Amino acid sequence: MYGAITAVKDLALTVRQGEFLTILGPSGSGKTTALMLLAGFISPSEGDILIAGRSVAAVPSYRRDQGIVFQSYALFPHLTVRRNLEFPLEMRGIKASERANRVDSILERVHLKDFGGRMPSQLSGGQQQRVALARALIADPPILLLDEPLGALDRNLREQMQGEIKSLHKEFGITTVCVTHDQEEALTLSDRIVVMRGGVIEQVDTPEALYDRPATLFVANFLGEANLLEKTVYEIEAERSRHAGTVAMIRPERLRISVPGATRSTEADQRESAIGTVTDMIYAGPLRKYHVEVGSRLLVVREHVASGQQVFSPGDQVRLDWLRSDIRFVTP
Ligand SMILES: Nc1ncnc2c1ncn2[C@@H]1O[C@H](COP(=O)(O)OP(=O)(O)O)[C@@H](O)[C@H]1O
Ligand SMILES: [Mg+2]
Repeated sequence: MYGAITAVKDLALTVRQGEFLTILGPSGSGKTTALMLLAGFISPSEGDILIAGRSVAAVPSYRRDQGIVFQSYALFPHLTVRRNLEFPLEMRGIKASERANRVDSILERVHLKDFGGRMPSQLSGGQQQRVALARALIADPPILLLDEPLGALDRNLREQMQGEIKSLHKEFGITTVCVTHDQEEALTLSDRIVVMRGGVIEQVDTPEALYDRPATLFVANFLGEANLLEKTVYEIEAERSRHAGTVAMIRPERLRISVPGATRSTEADQRESAIGTVTDMIYAGPLRKYHVEVGSRLLVVREHVASGQQVFSPGDQVRLDWLRSDIRFVTP
């Protein structure tokens, strides 16, 4: 709690040994607070934090065996890359010759072999990021904590660094907790994702399960695009009562678009369809996105561009169909 503000509430979370766990949520949802609690920079007003079965709630951050990368990198600006990297080793009383060896080896690992003599200000954003990662990893901590580690990088560099973080995680086997607001990053990196909203955990699951079986509309929307089918389909009474209090959701790539009279091979009782009007077509390289008005709803359809495919334009009448089994029922 920050004064009257409860930034994170009833957080019950178990991080598994060796896993890559990502805390994902919009800005202000309590991600950093949750990470700072784990790191020991702030103490919970209630409850406890255990590492390997031992309570650490009262152990200050600097006494904990963990590597941390802050969003701002927090490199020491007046120290060279080498000296930045030596610092955590000095803190642990490791002697100079061993320090030099470790610095050499980690610099090689993050592809910065020739940069040891530079000052942080003489490095690009991506290079600074790698130094920050190297500094967090150099003392071989069993736990790595990352707060928006790639937030300041442009797209290409971000993707490249995602790959590096992933292979570092694999190689070192460090239990990692990463905070991000970037869905793609969370999906790419994580063994499991914790979705946070307003200081509360909304859902915890593997990336695939979260995307494919979101429990709530918030999770569905946060991890991609969600079409609400609500009253346009699913009038079967039994089904409706079984899913009381939920709305029917379907992902844009599960909708198929075709001319109204087209035939489909799948059995009719597995398939549902609706007629609509295209209002927009967005071409995005390998994908084509359509907005289709069906009744009072605007549905998004996403399809991979393929040869011989029919392309529709605004104003075209189309049929959308989908498999009943692709519908998900989520809490609004
Ligand atoms: N030091 C602080 N003092 C008061 N309120 C804070 C402080 N840090 C964060 N908060 C508030 O706590 C909530 C969660 O913040 P934070 O954990 O930083 O979210 P996130 O990292 O998900 O963006 C926000 O409402 C934020 O304004
Ligand atoms: Mg934050």
